[in-house]
Amino acid sequence: MSTLEIEARDVIKIVLQFCKENSLNQTFQTLQNECQVSLNTVDSHETFIADINSGRWDAVLPQVSQLKVSRKKLEDLYEQIVLEMIELRELDTARAILRQTQVMGVMKQEQPERYLRLEHLLVRTYFDPHEAYQDSTKERRRAQIAQALSSEVSVVPPSRLMALIGQALKWQQHQGLLPPGTQFDLFRGTAAMKQDVEDMYPTTLMHTIKFGKKSHPECARFSPDGQFLVSCSVDGFIEVWDHISGKLKKDLQYQADETFMMHEEAVLCADFSRDSEMLASGSQDGKIKVWRVRTGQCLRRLERAHSMGITSLCFSRDGSQILSTSFDSTARVHGLKSGKLLKEFRGHGSYVNHAMFTNDGGRVITASSDCTVKVSCLAVFPQTIPDQGFVVIAVYVTVIALTFPVFQGGDASVNSVHLFPKNMDHIVVCNKTSSIYIMTLQGQVVKSFSSGKREGGDFVAASVSPKGEWIYCVGEDRNLYCFSVQSGKLEHLMKVHDKDVIGVTHHPHINLVATYGEDCNMKLWKP
Ligand SMILES: *[C@@H]1O[C@H](CO)[C@@H](O)[C@H](O)[C@H]1NC(C)=O
Ligand SMILES: *[C@@H]1O[C@H](CO)[C@@H](O)[C@H](O)[C@H]1NC(C)=O
Repeated sequence: MSTLEIEARDVIKIVLQFCKENSLNQTFQTLQNECQVSLNTVDSHETFIADINSGRWDAVLPQVSQLKVSRKKLEDLYEQIVLEMIELRELDTARAILRQTQVMGVMKQEQPERYLRLEHLLVRTYFDPHEAYQDSTKERRRAQIAQALSSEVSVVPPSRLMALIGQALKWQQHQGLLPPGTQFDLFRGTAAMKQDVEDMYPTTLMHTIKFGKKSHPECARFSPDGQFLVSCSVDGFIEVWDHISGKLKKDLQYQADETFMMHEEAVLCADFSRDSEMLASGSQDGKIKVWRVRTGQCLRRLERAHSMGITSLCFSRDGSQILSTSFDSTARVHGLKSGKLLKEFRGHGSYVNHAMFTNDGGRVITASSDCTVKVSCLAVFPQTIPDQGFVVIAVYVTVIALTFPVFQGGDASVNSVHLFPKNMDHIVVCNKTSSIYIMTLQGQVVKSFSSGKREGGDFVAASVSPKGEWIYCVGEDRNLYCFSVQSGKLEHLMKVHDKDVIGVTHHPHINLVATYGEDCNMKLWKP
């Protein structure tokens, strides 16, 4: 199950807004008075929770040391930090926490099995998140720890807050902001969305969305919460679709009013922020716009993001930065608040076709028509100074982008790179050949999948299924190739368009694939 995050603070705002819009003056007044009080005291509390949820352990630990926290909760916290340090390959830090802190010392005595598991994970040469986080995820465990610790610092009258959140969620659902059937988890302030249990390749056409003759889509993306499917067209329009009905989403008022998000020129790429609130779009004339998807409001314009067309966009995890690539051979990081250019990567000798941040946010991977993939480090990982063996202080040192090529020497343009959900140290590389590769960040090929075609079967785009079980490629021959990662075999092949295929994208939670092509169709496929 995945979670859809809703911040308590946002929820309160929504409730207040609701009261205001519905002239519930009395209620509004009462709530506002109460919330003002709560929000003030909640403020630092929320920062504390946010620190835990984003793993800023250097900020969390000193605060925790001020609190009287039960040993069980401390153990959970320390265990999580050890696991995350192992994941970051900060093995010295992990070892120091494991062997030098009192909390872990007691765990070793009283729960030797639990302790030994961590020691075992520490000496492994690889990190398997599934195993380490015991069928949960890093984020979910952080949320649980945040919840557990937050009860220790809670100053808000909990019943009141819960009631507010309950009302707000009901209202959100009523407004169609949450999909029907969504379950709420009030304790975590999150709503769980239904997710397919197993990844399965598509075989059946569910919907065909037709575009005008001169307005084929250049790009399509699902929002991370799975609610929106966005298409970007050569005629400058950006449209939000309901993947269930295959129709334009008319519950978005601006679309119902026939005003759309748009650019003056062809829109070539787009990316959603992790909370699905914002959409960034990039156009042929080098401009980037950032939109609030629910309202269609343009939040920011970067008029001169690049001197030529923008080929891909990627939000940083916290949504404060945008990574862009361009035909002008550069990749750039822009600050959203300031609108300023923060960093530029100049190493490539031709179009940069695609880029992304690694999961830890510390590196940028770029793919170029100069036939290389490069990895650039943005920051050095936390250097840690153990303080009396108790508190670990992380110091972040920013370094100038340090770039090394993942591979070189081929003569095929690299179309795209993708994170590989099964292993964070691996990426999927799609170059313009009839094979696709799983590679390490050091440039070794781990596995490759081939269409077996000698001519006319080069891949133009690819997508990885949510759990990493399948790799889907679209070829010059207008076929969709479905490779099983496990068997390494081509398990399914089907013709998807009548003219050249432009791209393929996957829904984040369910077995649903969208393909789009020069035949001016976007097609939705399911098993
Ligand atoms: C509620 O407040 C609005 C403005 O905030 C005001 O125009 C309206 O008259 C109020 N309604 C009542 C019933 O007091
Ligand atoms: C395509 O990428 C693979 C994996 O990096 C590489 O080994 C191969 O040489 C590339 N092919 C061409 C023709 O560039």
